[in-house]
Amino acid sequence: MVATTAIARHYGSAGIADRVLAGLRAAGGPDAPVTPEALAPFDHFHGRGVAATAELVALLRPQPGERIIDIGSGIGGPARWIAAQCGVHVTGVDLTAEFCAAAEALTAACGMTDRVTIIEGSALDLPLPDAAFDRAYSQNAVMNIADKLQFCREAFRVLRPGGVFGLACACAATGGGDIHFPVPWATTAAESFLATEDEMRAALTAAGFAIVSFESADGRPPPAAPPAPPEGASATTLAIQFILGERVHEMVANMARNAAERLTTTIEVLVRKPAVRKPG
Ligand SMILES: C[S@@+](CC[C@H](N)C(=O)[O-])C[C@H]1O[C@@H](n2cnc3c(N)ncnc32)[C@H](O)[C@@H]1O
Repeated sequence: MVATTAIARHYGSAGIADRVLAGLRAAGGPDAPVTPEALAPFDHFHGRGVAATAELVALLRPQPGERIIDIGSGIGGPARWIAAQCGVHVTGVDLTAEFCAAAEALTAACGMTDRVTIIEGSALDLPLPDAAFDRAYSQNAVMNIADKLQFCREAFRVLRPGGVFGLACACAATGGGDIHFPVPWATTAAESFLATEDEMRAALTAAGFAIVSFESADGRPPPAAPPAPPEGASATTLAIQFILGERVHEMVANMARNAAERLTTTIEVLVRKPAVRKPG
């Protein structure tokens, strides 16, 4: 409960949707169309932006008409982008009230309220029925969650048998020490719960998932710099800047330092909930 409040405090602030829309207009002019594609530099809240979302989609392979859940959906950029690109319905669940409000406002501005539903709630107790989704994904949310097993159990519960779950997140590097704070997902260690890759794999399998693929950046060079910002904007003008404000510069610097010092790594995983076998 203490961690939950601290996490919402770390992320939340008033006026996020207005800042994002102002960013879009600063880049594209006063009449810039509000679409998931145009918003993409401003509303995918993770280091590599829409490129990372596209990578996860290539792994997840959503099919037209499917029901998808985004666990820890932030301000809804990935949910809108995937709904538009893949012709699916996405339900996003997120803990941070201000993020849910921003996600709803931006979804309405895109005219997509029939294709994206946002629910304020916890990944550890998803307010959704069993087997309600064909596919699930979660991008960079599990770093805020101490109980990895319960997180995996809830993803497993809401998926139909045979459904797949794509997970992208930062992990603690094996043998690494304490990381440098603040980082984009946590102001202090009180909000950050990095598992090692082995711990994450163990939680997924203990929840019942079969591992389909498990990609790790451990040992690879740190990711390239984020895409160039619009003319006249500062070097970290991305979703994370509109959301976190000036704090972002120190956070992004620490994230790069943690990766360079091999304290953190990233994983991209696809797991499957086993299909129910027909008797006989
Ligand atoms: C770094 S942001 C990523 C947001 C989004 N997945 C994206 O990539 O644009 C992490 C998100 O996880 C959410 N989150 C953290 N703990 C959560 C929990 N226990 N249940 C639901 N959401 C949570 C935060 O509110 C935040 O929106």
